[in-house]
Amino acid sequence: MAITGTDINHAANLLRTGQLVSIPTETVYGLAANAYLEEAVVSIFEAKQRPAFDPLIVHTHSIQEFEKIAVNIPNRAYQLAEAFMPGPVTFILPRNPIIPLLVTSGNESVGIRIPNHPLTLSLLRQLDFPLAAPSANPFGYVSPTTAQHVAQQLGDRIPYILDGGPCQIGIESTIINLVNNEVEILRLGGLAIEEIETIIGQRVKFVKTSSSNPKAPGMLSSHYAPRKKVVLGDISKNIKQFDPHRTGILSFQKVWQQVPREQQYILAPSGDTSEAARNLFAALRQLDSLPIDIILAEQVPETGLGKAINDRLIRASF
Ligand code: TXA
Ligand code: MG
Repeated sequence: MAITGTDINHAANLLRTGQLVSIPTETVYGLAANAYLEEAVVSIFEAKQRPAFDPLIVHTHSIQEFEKIAVNIPNRAYQLAEAFMPGPVTFILPRNPIIPLLVTSGNESVGIRIPNHPLTLSLLRQLDFPLAAPSANPFGYVSPTTAQHVAQQLGDRIPYILDGGPCQIGIESTIINLVNNEVEILRLGGLAIEEIETIIGQRVKFVKTSSSNPKAPGMLSSHYAPRKKVVLGDISKNIKQFDPHRTGILSFQKVWQQVPREQQYILAPSGDTSEAARNLFAALRQLDSLPIDIILAEQVPETGLGKAINDRLIRASF
């Protein structure tokens, strides 16, 4: 069983010997290993039961380290990094051959991110290698936003969970493709597109992934999904069709009289989409653990992190 604690030195020693450690970030918890060490990276895929076609993001502590991960880095990457890193964003850049192809699922590009969490930043500074880390959940399930979430699902497969408290953003990083002078969003996430547009002074498009567009492998339509069926739509209409005692509700602000209160999770009493993002994955997990048959959810307003939340809700409902 994994030990949970705040011992950075212990975490560093495990990682130096090729073992896995779950790390806190401001977005979600990651499952980390030495990105330069193929055997260590293999064990990430095994622990998560993740298909080999889904590439991992490489985490580092500063912009000065980028060249140990990527090559031909455009100025725009540095401009955006100055503005948003450390923070909830990942850049796709040309891969430095020192990064094993296993990390990038055979792609000549690599994902780079500087997570904004004090424990993980000090851990990264102690290491002389970057960390490959996907979200620390079994493949396809909801991402973990507390150390307890990680322990519940992967506790028997990893030696240590670095406990950095609940994640402050709560949804995964925004992924920007910067290869070949492009600027396009491959995954909506914790950094709103509008903020990126302010820095580069132009509109940025979100490229939806499909099997015909393999730019962001791993962006499957069914993902972030609890085991229970999620029905996304107008709760006032959908609520009439199900037995209220066997129904859970994931609501943005409102409490519904028809359903027992303990089967309802209000994402953002304040109406703030950042608060909703912070609560989203814990809410899905909690509703998933109740003796109910169905979860009725509704989309949130598309301001701030709203688009990224709705993207997760749509995937959860597939
Ligand atoms: O917030 C986050 O990004 C979290 C924390 C732990 O850093 N990590 C995370 O990793 O969400 P993961 O593995 O669950 O999602 C990584 C996704 C892949 O599914 C893929 O869509 C994209 O990042 N990705 C990674 N490398 C890529 C590459 N070279 N080209 C295109 N997409 C890539
Ligand atoms: Mg993930």
